[in-house]
Amino acid sequence: MNKKYVFFFILIFSTQLTYAASGGQLKPVQIDLGNKASLQRGAQIFFNNCAGCHTLQYHRYSKFVGDLGISEDMIKSNLILTTSKGEKTKLGSTIVNAINHDSIKEGFGVVPPDLTLTARSRGSEWIYTFLTSFYEDNTRPMGVNNVLYPNVNMPHVLWYKEGLKEMDENNILTVKVQGQLTQKEYEQEITDLVNFLTYVSEPAQLERYSIGLWVMLFLVFFAFITYLLKIEYWRDIK
Ligand code: HEC
Repeated sequence: MNKKYVFFFILIFSTQLTYAASGGQLKPVQIDLGNKASLQRGAQIFFNNCAGCHTLQYHRYSKFVGDLGISEDMIKSNLILTTSKGEKTKLGSTIVNAINHDSIKEGFGVVPPDLTLTARSRGSEWIYTFLTSFYEDNTRPMGVNNVLYPNVNMPHVLWYKEGLKEMDENNILTVKVQGQLTQKEYEQEITDLVNFLTYVSEPAQLERYSIGLWVMLFLVFFAFITYLLKIEYWRDIK
């Protein structure tokens, strides 16, 4: 067989294997980029709980006006919590924070990664599973561990919402301390948050979907015109 084909088969086979290796572990999440209310709630959860440590450095606050329908005033008063050079960070700025890399590294062992592209590099299901897989582990410095990301250095920052889970001898997680939300409500909040991070990882998706519909309609219409043209051309030949 031609070498090219062998390479092609190996490529397909290896992607299937990677998929199978991750498939069993990840929980599905319902992404709906058309749901603006969900994206807005996700943004709120992100800025209240995550932005202190994580940046979205390839995205700008101003994009939220058109994309998510959040007013400029709302962004200025609720989402922008940082200052730059003594003034409140501007609407057109990228989403960075003021953490000192050296001191945060001392505290957590690593610098919290930027999350702009994580939904693309890790996948939405990965983030969803990660945020719903924390459990109590007193041998870890933060007092928690994560099923998907063993020995993770991130604390379970949403524990006040989710409560604290513990792992039993069959490796099943059960709620030990109840948080502010029920498990279902917590999963809904994480869905909104992951929806938001998925939008941030590729904002053009919002536009692409709406343009896509028009492109499909145009193609159907154009196919019809072409069909009429074909009938016209072949009329004299037959
Ligand atoms: C107190 C600081 C802190 C806060 C607040 C925080 N994180 Fe983290 N996060 C970290 C650190 C540190 C890591 C790196 C962990 C490691 O690699 O061991 C991390 C890792 C992650 C990762 C894995 C990224 C990757 O590709 O490896 C995701 C996803 C994540 N955080 C999401 C969130 C979300 C969503 C929130 C808000 C609900 C949040 N984090 C709040 C410190 C934080």
